[in-house]
Amino acid sequence: MNEPKAKPGASQFQILICDGPSCGLTFESDVLREQMEKQLGADPELGKRVTLVSYTCFGRCGEGPNMYARPVVEGEDPNAEPDLDTLAAYRGFYPGMNEASCKRLLEEHCKHGRPLADIVDDY
Ligand code: FES
Repeated sequence: MNEPKAKPGASQFQILICDGPSCGLTFESDVLREQMEKQLGADPELGKRVTLVSYTCFGRCGEGPNMYARPVVEGEDPNAEPDLDTLAAYRGFYPGMNEASCKRLLEEHCKHGRPLADIVDDY
């Protein structure tokens, strides 16, 4: 499995936020999304580099709320939903997110290019 090819300060990132029935209704991923939107709004540089995208279901519903972060290739639409091969190519799956881990995801993974080794998983 490839490690995410995130370079500090050099990448655009897409974060897929699951809003499927389990992550959205049971685990209230919308609350975490609102928190992340506020964090991005307070940091304009980071806000320009990160796109939050709703995703229907990763198929790991019991582990939610689930997210997936990946660098966006130059020329790629950061709002476009990636195919499964793209998801499988990077180790960017984040299960069981909470307010603290979402904050870290933006600060450490997206801002400084350091995936959260203690919680990131293969998809
Ligand atoms: S509802 Fe989120 S992984 Fe299925």
